[in-house]
Amino acid sequence: MIYADYNGSAPICDDVKEYFIKRLQDGPFANPNAIHRLGTKVLTAMENSRAVCAKALGAKYSQVIFNSGATEGITQVFHSVLDKALDDGRDIIITSGIEHSAIINCAKFYETKGYVYKVLPTLGNGVVDLNILREWVKENKKRIAMISIMAANNETGVVQPFKVIADLCNDNAIPFLCDTTQFIGKSEFSFKESGIDYAVTSGHKFGALTGTGILLAKYPNKLNALIIGGGQEKGIRGGTQNYLGYETLAVALASFEKNGGKYLDLKIKKLEFEAEIKKRFPQVVILGEEAERVPSTTYVAFPGIHGQAVQIELESEDIFVTTSSACSDNEPVTSKVLKAMGVSDEIGRGVVRISLGHCSPLESYDKILDALTKAYEKLGKIKSF
Ligand SMILES: Cc1ncc(COP(=O)(O)O)c(C=O)c1O
Repeated sequence: MIYADYNGSAPICDDVKEYFIKRLQDGPFANPNAIHRLGTKVLTAMENSRAVCAKALGAKYSQVIFNSGATEGITQVFHSVLDKALDDGRDIIITSGIEHSAIINCAKFYETKGYVYKVLPTLGNGVVDLNILREWVKENKKRIAMISIMAANNETGVVQPFKVIADLCNDNAIPFLCDTTQFIGKSEFSFKESGIDYAVTSGHKFGALTGTGILLAKYPNKLNALIIGGGQEKGIRGGTQNYLGYETLAVALASFEKNGGKYLDLKIKKLEFEAEIKKRFPQVVILGEEAERVPSTTYVAFPGIHGQAVQIELESEDIFVTTSSACSDNEPVTSKVLKAMGVSDEIGRGVVRISLGHCSPLESYDKILDALTKAYEKLGKIKSF
């Protein structure tokens, strides 16, 4: 079996499995906010995990807020930044058309509250149009309440110029939310060096338990609680902490630090795989290939061959890929990300996303290449070169 849907959800990584089994056997289990000895032990383990996460992400310990994942982090940032921005005359929200629906739907929600929602165009290579962003900032800097642009796209893997955007935002005192969900755990990331105000991620994208995540905030005291609760996470996120899950975040990030080098091999192998599939089928298109991408994502299309048909063929060989992001799998249409890039329906309907991770054996690409060749030959009634 080859699992090639890491961008949807990565399998729990081996270091986390090992840690978690032992942790469940050994305990202790208690409420981390309890003042008895077991509570203190649990709290200490959780806070040690926070320190490990902070170090791995180049953030301060106090800037790490544990939560349930990226969707929650994104919602909390919108809720906090846009709470009073209208009162200060800041009424514009800028995102791009390639953002995850967790961002787009928040922006649309705040549009109903009186904000002006502007969608930054994306170039054909999958990168947002920085020149237009610079113009918009120049024209309207006093009116922009927040800018939200992702670090890496979940479908194409294309890396966005988030450091440049952070500089632009910092120079103009505009809050910047960067959705780092598909970047953290795949590429080196330093919150401090990035200059970003708010970054979010989900544990299940990099080998930790699902239902866990991190919100990084440059100034956490600017955040409003989304879940009010009993003052946990310094009043920023109420509810008894999922301490076992948060411990796995630290283990998974430490595992990435240890094994991150494997991504270089994966990237080399991925580029060989892409070159070979294009050699066999010159019609094949790799979306976003001219731009910098995270090492382990390929978004490939054979114009005219439906992506879902390819997915079924690959699945019959025990290879699990998706046709676009998991959330839009039921729509047999060109995804909004590809539409934003100006991709035609003929290509857009044909895409298959292959996403691996540092635990994947390199030979996976050889097996995917063979299976994809068979699928294209069968579905396109053609012979490869
Ligand atoms: C770029 C991006 N942002 C946000 C999310 C939302 O993550 P979650 O569903 O774990 O909250 C995802 C998940 O696919 C994603 O890929």
